[in-house]
Amino acid sequence: MDRIKVGVVGATGYSGAELVRLLLSHPGVELVFATSEQQAGKSLRQALPHLGGPHDLRLQLRPLDPAALAGEAEVVFLCLPHGVSMDAVEVFLEGGCRVIDLGADFRFRDPAVYKAWYAKPHARPDLLSEAVYGLPELHRNLLSGPGAGTAPGTRARLVANPGCYPTGAILALAPLVTRGLIERNTIIVDSKSGVSGGGRAPKLDFHFPECNENIKAYRVGRHQHTPEIEQELSRLSAEPVTLTFTPHLVPMTRGILTVAYGTLARPLDTRGILACFREDYRAEPFIRVLDQEEFPETKHVAGTNRCHLGARVDTRTGRVVVVTAIDNLLKGAAGQAVQNLNVLLGLPETTGLAGLQAYWP
Ligand SMILES: NC(=O)c1ccc[n+]([C@@H]2O[C@H](COP(=O)([O-])OP(=O)(O)OC[C@H]3O[C@@H](n4cnc5c(N)ncnc54)[C@H](OP(=O)(O)O)[C@@H]3O)[C@@H](O)[C@H]2O)c1
Repeated sequence: MDRIKVGVVGATGYSGAELVRLLLSHPGVELVFATSEQQAGKSLRQALPHLGGPHDLRLQLRPLDPAALAGEAEVVFLCLPHGVSMDAVEVFLEGGCRVIDLGADFRFRDPAVYKAWYAKPHARPDLLSEAVYGLPELHRNLLSGPGAGTAPGTRARLVANPGCYPTGAILALAPLVTRGLIERNTIIVDSKSGVSGGGRAPKLDFHFPECNENIKAYRVGRHQHTPEIEQELSRLSAEPVTLTFTPHLVPMTRGILTVAYGTLARPLDTRGILACFREDYRAEPFIRVLDQEEFPETKHVAGTNRCHLGARVDTRTGRVVVVTAIDNLLKGAAGQAVQNLNVLLGLPETTGLAGLQAYWP
């Protein structure tokens, strides 16, 4: 098979570096460029010394210059701070590249929602209707196939890779919301994230003495992933969904544990709830629905593209509790981006991802 040429913009960040690691072992692609502003000129070997193996790591990091890079790759991954991708994307698209953006710039359908939660107007609102929200478990048909409908061909040109918290939350709630099994305005999502979720650029809250041996809730009632979760659950529901989302920072490097709560719209037991998840996710290679009384742990998915899911009905309160665990850098970012790439290329979705095992303990 001819290898597809791919490039990674922002390859020295946590999600970009993880993507480089995955792409180097992906049998269907060739990494032709990787960018960094601060480390331009260094080789991958110098900038990402954790990489090794048989791969050629002499590739030199280059600064982001979309006009110069667009002709070199067929698929470009943008792993940039939010607000930066929207200025770079046009040149890549016009150059014929398909773009998978790991940031938030193209996740919203409504530019007013972006402006309200990211505190700046969207520079390319015209592209929002074209972008496909890249959660393959829900939108595979929009990424590739009859539903894609974006020129050229039938594959999406612009994929908005979901946020890390939204991935765990949406997968926890989608089967319940789709079936109308929970009162849609009773949903609470409580998530705990490892520190790599904040990116590599130094920030005081993520400084070791500040976050080690400490747990805290942050951006309570105003985290920017709230409208993203609401948008996707509203799409699945007949009515708009509003919910409470509270993220927490916990002293681990990677992983997100999400606990989602909602009041049942009609009586159902744990077995019945788990049956819904099994029905929707039975063919999903990356979702593991656990048995009754089993609940996910972040260490069981760390280093993999899997999402583990457990659920229980609390008959005393009439609420359902769903727990998911993902690795924020994989199913929450780079792994999901490769899954999206595979869908775009018509490859088995597990290509380059199936061999990843959790490193436990
Ligand atoms: N971390 C996660 O768990 C996670 C999960 C899901 C989604 N995301 C999203 O993915 C994106 C990247 O996140 P991250 O955590 O990987 O960030 P990060 O660790 O801070 O890395 C950012 C990367 O972007 C480059 N960069 C920064 N400013 C730039 C600019 N103005 N022009 C060109 N390149 C620039 C940096 O390069 P140099 O510093 O080397 O110049 C670095 O390679 C964000 O939008 C984030 O929200 C992150």
